Amino acid sequence: MRSFVYDQPARRVIFAAGALDRLAEEIARAGYRRVLMLSTPGQRFAAEAARALADVLAGTCDIAAMHVPIETVHVARARAREAGADSLLAIGGGSTIGLAKAIALERELPIVAVPTTYAGSEMTPIYGISEGGVKKTGRDSRVLPRIVLYDPRLTLSLPAAVSGPSGMNAVAHAVEALYAHDANPVITLLSVESIRALSRALPIVVRTPGDVDARTEALYGAWLAGISLGAVGMALHHRLCHVLGGSFNLPHAEVHTVVLPHVVSFNRDAAPEAMRMIADALGATDAARGLYDLARQMGAPASLQEISMPYEGLDGVATIVASSPPYNPRAIDVEGVRALLESAYRGTRP
Ligand SMILES: NC(=O)c1ccc[n+]([C@@H]2O[C@H](COP(=O)([O-])OP(=O)(O)OC[C@H]3O[C@@H](n4cnc5c(N)ncnc54)[C@H](O)[C@@H]3O)[C@@H](O)[C@H]2O)c1
Repeated sequence: MRSFVYDQPARRVIFAAGALDRLAEEIARAGYRRVLMLSTPGQRFAAEAARALADVLAGTCDIAAMHVPIETVHVARARAREAGADSLLAIGGGSTIGLAKAIALERELPIVAVPTTYAGSEMTPIYGISEGGVKKTGRDSRVLPRIVLYDPRLTLSLPAAVSGPSGMNAVAHAVEALYAHDANPVITLLSVESIRALSRALPIVVRTPGDVDARTEALYGAWLAGISLGAVGMALHHRLCHVLGGSFNLPHAEVHTVVLPHVVSFNRDAAPEAMRMIADALGATDAARGLYDLARQMGAPASLQEISMPYEGLDGVATIVASSPPYNPRAIDVEGVRALLESAYRGTRP
């Protein structure tokens, strides 16, 4: 067995259909008395959470937006200051949790997260803020949520067309954790279990969005994927998606969905053990084709072309990624990445 470092900060997770009903109790247990609640505009759960918090709700801020624009960060930080907040409640997807992280980065307020998608941000110390079309990301332990309530009930309203790609975004975290440079046996176990749970649940979720059992299993898989993302380093897939999404404002989860099978195919011969684990977890004979087929089963976008990536942008993306390559099991060069992007653009089965 290879040597490893396992360094997981402790945090509290409540996972239950109906977990939101325990929000007030958890806030009281933690001793928070002035909670600023963050959400996207018009979130139904936010109203439910606000009622539950009653007199410890110090204010609300429903301006969360994709990729955490700096303008929203300025407003939300001011709101936290004015409200005299001693804690933040983020109820929503990665964008809402990202906004809470951006406040915590400056004001060191503890975050309570109630995720309503499968993105996984609630389990990571990773933050991102967009400014002038560029998204800067970093790691800081101050932004890691202290308490996370997973309530599958809240995901029932996530439309099928959002659920599939959001789930594939989670699968991508687990996949890259399996060939991470700092992989460790605990995270490997969680990642395999994550892929197994998500690949079993997501096709049912997309077919029957109101199926609570499938929603529960998908959220469980997303939790494990989030832990993996936060615990070990990601590789070519995450870098490529970051550059593609950031440079061309492409939808985050859809980019992950389209690109993943092609990166896995690129890495096929360089990470045979990871490939075997991914394929087994998917119940497929080949990891890359298994991932491609899973996305097709869900009717998710198959190509970069479909999600409005301009073809003439592919060369530039390949050059950017190859000029400062992340760790990856297979060496990264412009030609290899360009060929991978060509397949992803066309959406061919790897
Ligand atoms: N820092 C990290 O570790 C990390 C990890 C994953 C993703 N992210 C970031 O998160 C963002 C993407 O997050 P996302 O994919 O969760 O999307 P999102 O948070 O942008 O949500 C997408 C849309 O779905 C709506 N929505 C969310 N939950 C819903 C529900 N249950 N029912 C109905 N509508 C719902 C939201 O209001 C929003 O309009 C990206 O900016 C990405 O970079 C960060």
